[in-house]
Parts: sequence; structure tokens; C-alpha cells
Amino acid sequence: MLLLTGATGLVGSTLLRHLLTEGTEVRCLVRDPRRLGAQRVRVQIALGDLADPPSFRNAMRGVQTVVHLAAAVRDQPRGSIEELDGIATWRMVEAAERQGVERFVFFSALGASTHHRTRCLRAKAVAEKAVREASLRSTVFAPSIVYAPGDPWLTLLERLSLLPLMPVSGRGRALYQPIWAEDVADCVVAALRQPGGERHTRYELAGPETLSHNDMVRILLESSGRRRPLLNVPTPIVSRALRLAERMMGPRAPATWDEAELMEVSMTSPRGAADAERLGVSPQRMAAVLGSG
Ligand SMILES: NC(=O)c1ccc[n+]([C@@H]2O[C@H](COP(=O)([O-])OP(=O)(O)OC[C@H]3O[C@@H](n4cnc5c(N)ncnc54)[C@H](OP(=O)(O)O)[C@@H]3O)[C@@H](O)[C@H]2O)c1
Repeated sequence: MLLLTGATGLVGSTLLRHLLTEGTEVRCLVRDPRRLGAQRVRVQIALGDLADPPSFRNAMRGVQTVVHLAAAVRDQPRGSIEELDGIATWRMVEAAERQGVERFVFFSALGASTHHRTRCLRAKAVAEKAVREASLRSTVFAPSIVYAPGDPWLTLLERLSLLPLMPVSGRGRALYQPIWAEDVADCVVAALRQPGGERHTRYELAGPETLSHNDMVRILLESSGRRRPLLNVPTPIVSRALRLAERMMGPRAPATWDEAELMEVSMTSPRGAADAERLGVSPQRMAAVLGSG
């Protein structure tokens, strides 16, 4: 039995489809099973929350492999980014060790470090350390930006592209190696198939090209057939506006500064697509996936 957290998210929903096609028995730790859509009848469901450690301890009974994807890019009423992305992972690893889980697979992010400018990537660094130091076999994936047509980020860009000028937070010069969620899922499935070997393995997941934030927005514009000049909005204005929106709208705010800041920090690997290729996956170019090149 494989326990999957974050199965309702971008990577999780894609990975779940791949795992079920392969015939893997999956239990999903979810807050709301309805968000699993049609897949909910094909999996075991464990109701749980990253902010509720007993819920995930129970979910691990009889589990050999945990794939932990669930994470938060904004504070939630039940926990901060640091609690949900950092401490919860540490608790989950501890629970996995106690329950005799054989293998723990975790999603960090490229560039995660305890000194990182963003809260999310500082929390990921703490979590990654807990996974690396665990006594069970562990695999860490550190992706650059992951996307799929219709995901929340591309949908937001699509909506913004209806304006006469296309706003981009900051100078748009941060660099990424965007990787398609389908390619990410293929990498995870390939890693899961590998027989026991090293106690700890780390893969950096990056697409085949390095693109700035501005470049990615231009690719999206081209795929949606809209010609718009980019409007680079100075960072202090974006951060003040989003902080104000968060104070006024709370959890209903369409975007938060913690989320926007992730688009101002480069996420690249010097190895490029080499780790994905080592797993037998040749990641696609973003323009090819979005149908604009
Ligand atoms: N997407 C990227 O560009 C990117 C880049 C680098 C690293 N990563 C990492 O890759 C992993 C997967 O990313 P993703 O893009 O698929 O994430 P996502 O689409 O934002 O999905 C997040 C998932 O976590 C779940 N979750 C959030 N808060 C939770 C809580 N308190 N308790 C239980 N579950 C909770 C969500 O469930 P609900 O449906 O209940 O909200 C959802 O299934 C994450 O660890 C992320 O940090 C992603």
C-alpha cells in the first residue's frame, strides 16, 4: 500500500492517475475527498490534515511507501507555511519510522535553503533535512516550477492576459526550468520502480530549457493567441497591494505576497534535465506542451 498526500494538487492528481494505471494500491490522505473527483472510488481514503498529526499517523497503518506531496504556499487557519511545510514533514517522517514504513518520498523545491528569501523554501529546507536524516529509505525530488495546461498558475495568467497590458510581478528576470506535471509523474513512477539501493537519493527535476519569468509569460500569451506588452510592476508595489488584499479578504485573496515572491526567485539546476533523463524521462519544452511552438 502506498500513502499519497497532496493527491488533489497539480502533481498529486497527475501522479495518482499514473499510479492507478500501473495497478498500485493507493491510500490518499485528503482534507476533502470530493476534490479527488472520479478517482475517489479507485483509492482508499484517509481523512487528514497536515495540521493534525494523529490523522496522518493513522493513515500510515499497513503502508510500505509514503509519497508526501501535500504542502502550502500560503498560511492556513490551522497552520502557518512553516508548520505545514516544515514541521508537519518532520512529524510525518517520525510517524513513518514508527509505523515501519519502508520508503519515504518527499517533494522539496530547487534552491530550498534555510537562508532562502522565501518562507516556503526555508520550510522546505528544514523538511528536507528531516527526510535526509531519517532511518528509512528516502527519495527527495526538488523540482523547478511545475505546470500543466489549466493549472491555477496558468489559469491566473490566462485571466490577466485579458487586460490590455500583461502585468508581471517585479522585473520578471528570475530564471526557471519549467517541467510539465506529466513528466514529473513519470519521474516519480520510475524512481518508485527502482529496487532498493542507496538509503537516500535526491533528484533535481528540471525541464530542458532555462526561461525567465517574462519568457514563460510570453509563451503563455503566444499559446492563447493574445499579443500583449508586458508591464513589469515594481516589487514593492506588488508586495504592498497583495498584503493589503490579504488583510482585507483573508483566505479568499486571489494571490498572496508569499505566492508572488516565489516568482521572483530563480529555481534552476546546473544539471538541467539530467536527473529526469537518468530516470528515463525526456522532459518536454513548455511551448510544445502549451501548443505554441
Ligand atoms: N508546483 C510547483 O511549481 C512546485 C515547485 C517546486 C516544488 N513543488 C512541491 O511539489 C509538491 C506538489 O506541488 P503541487 O503544485 O502539486 O501543489 P498544489 O497543487 O498546491 O497542491 C497542494 C496539495 O497539498 C494539499 N494540502 C494543502 N494543505 C493541506 C493540509 N493542511 N493538509 C492536507 N493536505 C493539504 C492540497 O489539498 P487540498 O485539495 O485539500 O487543498 C493539495 O492536494 C509540493 O510539496 C510543492 O511544494 C511544487
